[in-house]
Amino acid sequence: MKLFLDTGDLAEVREAAAWGVIDGVTTNPTLIAKSGRGFKETVLAICEAVPGGAISAEVVATEYDAMLKEALEIASWHPQIVVKVPLIEPGVRLVNTLTERGIRTNVTLVFTVTQALLAAKAGATYISNFVGRVDDVSGDGMEAVRETVAMVEEYGFESEVLVASVRHPKHVVDALAAGAHVSTMPLSVLRQLFKHPLTDSGLKRFLDDWNAAGLTIG
Ligand code: G3P
Repeated sequence: MKLFLDTGDLAEVREAAAWGVIDGVTTNPTLIAKSGRGFKETVLAICEAVPGGAISAEVVATEYDAMLKEALEIASWHPQIVVKVPLIEPGVRLVNTLTERGIRTNVTLVFTVTQALLAAKAGATYISNFVGRVDDVSGDGMEAVRETVAMVEEYGFESEVLVASVRHPKHVVDALAAGAHVSTMPLSVLRQLFKHPLTDSGLKRFLDDWNAAGLTIG
């Protein structure tokens, strides 16, 4: 499963990229607004920070012609860019157009397998299935992920199922169990994936024993 970082914060991208475990970055209008920098400069800096990674940048228009104009502009900035498009009627039409032109897309704000079916049929590269926002309102966000993975596999769609709106490591565990292709998460959750109390206590004991013996390397 690929790991994407969900952020518009360049310092966070650089920190995670240094670990060598992220395959891309997802942004959205909220995250870009929070970054305090311009859209294009932020996205380009993220592309440079994650060489070869898939970097999602979202259109903000909601009418087809304006969405297409924005999408072509965004896609022209860098070959690593994936155009993020909301799952609305002109959005699905836009994904068809961009797919025909060889431009990669990430269809966002997907909550059901039927929405995912439309995205897959339009040729979406990634289908961003939001889980945390469903759990927030007492639903089971991962259910649509499981259904969408099954659909993609059963019918041979090329789209990758991307688990978004990840709130904690259990979402990552469940995404793995569901066979999702990608999970995107904030840096706080990615950091949590490192953590286990037995790792900390085990390392402390190794180092205490080593130092007590007065050993050195080399
Ligand atoms: O970028 C899409 C998604 O990951 C947003 O997550 O936490 O705002 O529901 P969240």
